[in-house]
Amino acid sequence: MTLFNRETQAIFWNNNPKAIQRMLDYDYLCGRDTPSISAIVQPSKPSSFQKFFMGAKEVLIPLYTSTQEAVEKHPDTAVLLNFASFRSAYDVTKEALKFPSLKTLMITAEGIPERFARELALEAKNQGKVVIGPASVGAITPGGFKTGNVGGTISNILNAKLHRPGSCGVVTKSGGLFNELANIISLRTDGMAEGLAIGGDRFPGSSYIDHLLRMENNPAIKYMIVLGEVGGLAEYEIVEAVTKGLIKKPVIAWCIGTVANHFNQSIQFGHAGASAKKDIETAEAKNKAMRKAGIHVPKTFNHLPEVIEAIYKDLHAEGIIQETSEEEVPNIPEDYKTAQKTGKVRKATNFICTISDDRGEEAVYAGYPISSLATPETGFSIGDVLTLLWFKKRFPRWAVEFIETVIKTVADHGPAVSGAHNSRVTARAGKDLVSSLVTGLLTIGPKFGGAIDGAAKYFKNALSKEQDPKEFVEEMKKTNTPIPGIGHRVKSIRNPDLRVSCLKRFAYDSFPSTSLLDYALRVEQITTAKKENLILNVDGVIGVLMVDMWRNLNYSEDDINEFIDVGVLNAFFVIGRSIGFVGHILDEKRLNMPLYRHQTDDILYDIKKAENIIPEHLNDF
Ligand code: ACO
Ligand code: LMR
Repeated sequence: MTLFNRETQAIFWNNNPKAIQRMLDYDYLCGRDTPSISAIVQPSKPSSFQKFFMGAKEVLIPLYTSTQEAVEKHPDTAVLLNFASFRSAYDVTKEALKFPSLKTLMITAEGIPERFARELALEAKNQGKVVIGPASVGAITPGGFKTGNVGGTISNILNAKLHRPGSCGVVTKSGGLFNELANIISLRTDGMAEGLAIGGDRFPGSSYIDHLLRMENNPAIKYMIVLGEVGGLAEYEIVEAVTKGLIKKPVIAWCIGTVANHFNQSIQFGHAGASAKKDIETAEAKNKAMRKAGIHVPKTFNHLPEVIEAIYKDLHAEGIIQETSEEEVPNIPEDYKTAQKTGKVRKATNFICTISDDRGEEAVYAGYPISSLATPETGFSIGDVLTLLWFKKRFPRWAVEFIETVIKTVADHGPAVSGAHNSRVTARAGKDLVSSLVTGLLTIGPKFGGAIDGAAKYFKNALSKEQDPKEFVEEMKKTNTPIPGIGHRVKSIRNPDLRVSCLKRFAYDSFPSTSLLDYALRVEQITTAKKENLILNVDGVIGVLMVDMWRNLNYSEDDINEFIDVGVLNAFFVIGRSIGFVGHILDEKRLNMPLYRHQTDDILYDIKKAENIIPEHLNDF
């Protein structure tokens, strides 16, 4: 005869994480072993799981796309909490009534057409099922189970002693007044054994009398409290049941809306059903009738607490209500975000970011909102974006233009160079664009495209020591170290690399000074005298000119050394050459060339039979 118990589980229709978490917090407070929600129905999402907390521990609640699936997977679940909007609440309830395992259905939506609500109520009654609502906040069996948001916050629930069973049964229409009443009851008595708000519509799925008759048969409930409302005749059903002796337990009742008498015309209160169409429907008339039937009706609402206390004390004195002991309740851990907002906890961050911020209305690059630099009229070019994000500075025009010239210069050098070749081979093996691009990028290193950092480092170091270029070349030779930025497979004095000439020209025209370039060219004179392909190559000229650029921009030697150490110079090649690699990959994809296999006549096969190094006496092992 009790509506719910500590084993009751519900299917929650429409994912409402806040309400679900409140139910699970309540479960934890009551010391339940299983979550009171067995499943969530969310038609817009594929079946999966969602994480919630039971105390400090996380639990997974399954999510289904249909009620049918949820019912099939959870045949022991007897309650459906219908949190669908008023547009779909009728269909959801109608479908749920088909499933024999679902015995209690609660509907929160307001505004379901009255004819539909009556149909649902009738069908439920015929099947012996209970519908709570529409327009209801639900019900609670303290210490066992509660639906959605009934009782309010956890602190409210604790204050109103709704976390453990008391001895009265409560039926109201309004959820707000239910909370108010729970507060009054907790201040004057041992609390509630069961309570529900049936909802404010004119035709609720179940009425006061349905629940009072059930409570009459529930031994845990010793007396009942009803908060009626102006409008309708449902309170007369209580009068009849009490008069006929169907209800013997003490009933305390008050019908809200007596103020309506002070108006000249009929008043519509907040609830759809709260309006008296005839005299008999007024709160005054209903209070009078209930009083006459022996129901405990206070003089005014203000006297209700006294009446409740008096009945409770009588039942207590008669030994019908036993003393309850207050057990300690577990602490519900506060959500980290809430605690942080109120300054209760602090947290060390795992990352530091000094270049961009996406937390505001618009992301910013080193303090500049994207909209202030993205479009042409802002005057910002791609080089400006690069200097903001890489160096957190705006460089003068000549420096930005130099950076852009570098990027354009290294964007591609044909399909034969190692990186482009690798990207093309990978694309022909059926790999996607990113994989093919990465293959090309991984080729960039000390010999191919990635000698810029090294060039900057060695030339800068030598010049700082005021080392004679000849001495520098000899020292590198002694340690057998190829000078980064010197040498090329095809370019030479006789076949000069025009990219290098172009960058040199740019620097002479625009840089205030080019001391490291001048030094590198003195080194080149010595290396090319040995071998004509040992020119200052494109990596080399970029490396030394970047150092000259930073010096001209008054960067300290420490700053420049840090740039070299972190590898930002090679990044200019990475950025530029990515443009070319993507081009090669797109080219391969469009041409739809078959898988590449290298020609065997292009490989010198030199295979000898492997020498057996295992001693004969060990051959058997
Ligand atoms: N410094 C000093 N001597 C060199 C250098 C160098 N950077 N490069 C080649 N040599 C010498 C070799 O020691 C060798 O000398 P030897 O004939 O006395 O034995 C001779 O030149 C030929 O060497 P190889 O390695 O066969 O030269 P190759 O022309 O094949 O190499 C390469 C070209 C790989 C670019 C080479 O010059 C090198 O390693 N340079 C340094 C790295 C570099 O700057 N790479 C970037 C190139 S540009 C780009 O990829 C975008
Ligand atoms: C390039 O820019 O890729 C070339 O300088 C390298 C090469 O091998 O030609």
